[in-house]
Amino acid sequence: MTESRSGSARVGRRGLLGVGIGLGGLAAGIGGTVAVDRVRTPDAPAALVDFHGRHQAGVETPIQAHARYLAHDLREGVDADAARRMLRLVTDDAARLCRAEPAITDQEPQLALTPCRLTVTVGFGPGWFSALGLTQKQPIGFQDLPPYEIDRLEERWSGGDLLLQICGDDPLVVAHAARHLSKTVRRFTTPRWVQQGFSTPMFGPDSPTPRNLMGQVDGTVNPSPGSDDFAEVVWAGSEAGWFAGGTMLVLRRIAMTMDTWDELDPHAQELAIGRTIATGAPLSGGGEHDEPDLTATDSSGLPLIPQFSHIARAASTGRGDRFLRRSYNYDEGITDGVVDQGLLFAAYQADLTRQYLPVQTRLAEQDLLNEWTVPIGSAVFAIPPGCAPDGQLGEGLL
Ligand code: HEM
Repeated sequence: MTESRSGSARVGRRGLLGVGIGLGGLAAGIGGTVAVDRVRTPDAPAALVDFHGRHQAGVETPIQAHARYLAHDLREGVDADAARRMLRLVTDDAARLCRAEPAITDQEPQLALTPCRLTVTVGFGPGWFSALGLTQKQPIGFQDLPPYEIDRLEERWSGGDLLLQICGDDPLVVAHAARHLSKTVRRFTTPRWVQQGFSTPMFGPDSPTPRNLMGQVDGTVNPSPGSDDFAEVVWAGSEAGWFAGGTMLVLRRIAMTMDTWDELDPHAQELAIGRTIATGAPLSGGGEHDEPDLTATDSSGLPLIPQFSHIARAASTGRGDRFLRRSYNYDEGITDGVVDQGLLFAAYQADLTRQYLPVQTRLAEQDLLNEWTVPIGSAVFAIPPGCAPDGQLGEGLL
């Protein structure tokens, strides 16, 4: 793990730090010294997540409270050289922000100062590779998802050449990082969509699994951060060349039809998933982390976990069809008179063709949950490996 806790000593040391940023009308980055008061998030441990490393942060990092995903398209005429320059700026800004320091041209430097496990994760969509003449270097297995019959995809939530995934436990810090980085990439890209979500944060393996807006415990069956299993499922291996240490993200915006879901009685809701609402335990018995028994039946011979329940359909067949799920909830209130809630479903895997597509295909064919969930957005991004402090993101590609 690349997590590093910052205790009060670190906060104190930086408490009155000259950040070299001008205020009060001075151009950012050239002004005098500013005394800054560090603000501590009251109920979350103050923490910094290392931006640098073999892998980008924000994947293996236990889920933070807030996320913003920003997709951009490359401007016409941006070539590999310009893309490299942009990534150098993004790398430098992100590394500083993740240390809870202002970026070089930060115009609201105070908003950068709260350590809140900020992570910035950069990804490349299929259009990135084609626009830059790099299709030959596109990682093996990286492709757009095929259309599915369950899809009701909207342009405004789909696609994109460049992804900035920004997560942290303080929404103000996340909003600030998102806006600053948007400015950094503005000369090179145009904004395509922004999606934001929230979760109950996890701080390590002992944190309870978060719930989604349907009330279900969501994220139980997942590779454990730090394990060999995690590395094998999530990170591309040496055969991937420049992409080794990277991963592929499938991000689906899935609306929940909450009004009809609420009409189901609680047991019918449990049958759709195959797990109890109270604890997330499989309907075949045991606790949350016990193996579901898909063959168990009740006294009348009916399966305890329906054959078409979400977990029965989604469970790995043992042929490598596994991934990390690190999803966020979204809630946009009421849109056109209807509850606008759902899941920003985020799956990370070394090879999405091999690992993700078989599961998505099975679920699109048959899954009781499909009655109350509607995919309205879809995007895929190749998340390149991380970089060393003297390196930059995308260096192996460009
Ligand atoms: C709004 C949409 C969705 C909801 C509410 C949802 C909810 C859940 C819940 C409650 C579980 C059981 C607990 C757990 O292991 O996390 C689960 C498991 C799982 N889901 Fe979903 N899910 C959704 C969409 C998807 C999609 C789109 C996929 C992949 C294409 C997927 C793949 C899986 C997998 C692989 C498991 C673990 C299955 C197992 O091995 O037991 N889910 N989901």
